[in-house]
Amino acid sequence: MMHKIRLGVNIDHIATLRNARGGQHPDPVAGALLAQSAGADGITAHLREDRRHIRDEDMKNIKQAIDIPLNFEMGATNEMVDIACAIQPNACCLVPEKREEVTTEGGLAVAGHEARLGPQIEKLKKAGCRISLFVEANPTELKAAASLGADIVELHTGAYSELNAKALQDELARLREGAEYAHQMGLEVHAGHGLRFDNVQPIACLPHMTELNIGHFLMGAALFTGLGEAIATMRALIDEAVA
Ligand code: PXP
Repeated sequence: MMHKIRLGVNIDHIATLRNARGGQHPDPVAGALLAQSAGADGITAHLREDRRHIRDEDMKNIKQAIDIPLNFEMGATNEMVDIACAIQPNACCLVPEKREEVTTEGGLAVAGHEARLGPQIEKLKKAGCRISLFVEANPTELKAAASLGADIVELHTGAYSELNAKALQDELARLREGAEYAHQMGLEVHAGHGLRFDNVQPIACLPHMTELNIGHFLMGAALFTGLGEAIATMRALIDEAVA
């Protein structure tokens, strides 16, 4: 029987486009509702320290508007922990964040940073959030994630999305081993970053895959076909891969 992989739609870049002109349009809340009605299983949004796309009130409004789970992506800072505790999203995905980067580069350094991450994770869990850590598919990080009580690891597919055919097989093997290991450690397995129509299927087929989080490509495709059709096409490709 087919197992359905959840599709989380990241709506950050609706806010990027809005902020380019500083007004109200396009509205990320309307985008989240459209994604929900087009079949998204969850909405992901990243409140960055510099608020370059999603803003505090967007996150609050999205949480109130949608009926599907909100995955609040955030840097592991005390400021973000306090905001997330107030908004109470279904899940918090902790990511590395650097001011100068264009997008999230590399996975969160978990091993060696337990003393700082542990109390933040504990606080978020007490507020009722599931904890996801965005990590490289590397056993040291996966083990550290499990030892900190994370519920989920999101495997970083950024490198995979940029590689040519030969190197891609090696990276896929690394992701496959990582997914197996994470599952053995009791972690739920998600993946995301740089996924497109042409590269999503091998990632959907990784063992124990439960959820894919996809943003930038879907928003670009939406310019040509509309968001509903872009999400429906991605949904169909994911379903076909695991049928
Ligand atoms: N997952 C995480 C943890 C991310 O940081 C991002 C990018 O914000 C995504 C998924 C989505 O990546 P993309 O926009 O490349 O689809």
